[in-house]
Amino acid sequence: MIRIYRVDSYDEMSRRAANIVSAQVIMKPDCVLGLATGSTPQGLYRLLAERCRAGDLDFAEVCTVNLDEYQGLSPEDGQSYRRYMRENLFEHVNLRPENTHLPDGLAADAAAECARYNAVIAGLGGIDLQLLGVGNNGHIGFNEPGAAFENETHLVALTESTVQANARFFKSPDEVPKHAYTMGIGSIMRARRILLVASGADKADALYRALHGPITPVLPASVLQLHGDVAVVADRAALARFPEA
Ligand code: GLP
Repeated sequence: MIRIYRVDSYDEMSRRAANIVSAQVIMKPDCVLGLATGSTPQGLYRLLAERCRAGDLDFAEVCTVNLDEYQGLSPEDGQSYRRYMRENLFEHVNLRPENTHLPDGLAADAAAECARYNAVIAGLGGIDLQLLGVGNNGHIGFNEPGAAFENETHLVALTESTVQANARFFKSPDEVPKHAYTMGIGSIMRARRILLVASGADKADALYRALHGPITPVLPASVLQLHGDVAVVADRAALARFPEA
């Protein structure tokens, strides 16, 4: 089932989404959170940090698993997702460093790294709440449009449109990694709850096709129609193609 929360602004999206994540952490203090990167969740992470500082949220027993990581970037690299997570969330809350998991961008053996990451997710007992953004082309994590839904963690060749979309974070387009590790669609779909956040007009098409179009690996987010518990928190611009927007 998909429940859509329509909000007026990015800030309201962040607050609503932070409420859902907070509820998860309060109801199950030792929960497993699946986390996402990108510009969309930054406001939500800021609010979680504020609530933790205020004593309203406690991450001491929470474990996290991120969706993806660029291949070839070290954890210290300014553009690695490990670094993003540290700067946007981890160093502002009382998560234990050993409870935070991302694929290792520098792993020498890609197949072994995928197997390791699958084992990490399984070892935690699966994901209680998976946070997702959506790419302009409908990708979730780095599951790019393709011929099939990939089940488990895998290494992907990023599409040209994703490389271009991510180039804004790098000094030059040549520096954007062309490959990334991503959790598979199966791992995402096995999460007990899913929270998708979207903001801005450039997400309107992907979001509409994800929730109303045919379920197809050509638009990976469309698979969410088959999940039993999805909350979509999106602003009016992102929901512009929906009726009554
Ligand atoms: C990247 C990430 C995705 C994210 C997407 C959208 O490709 N791998 O997980 O959802 O960007 O990013 P943004 O929120 O910046 O639009």
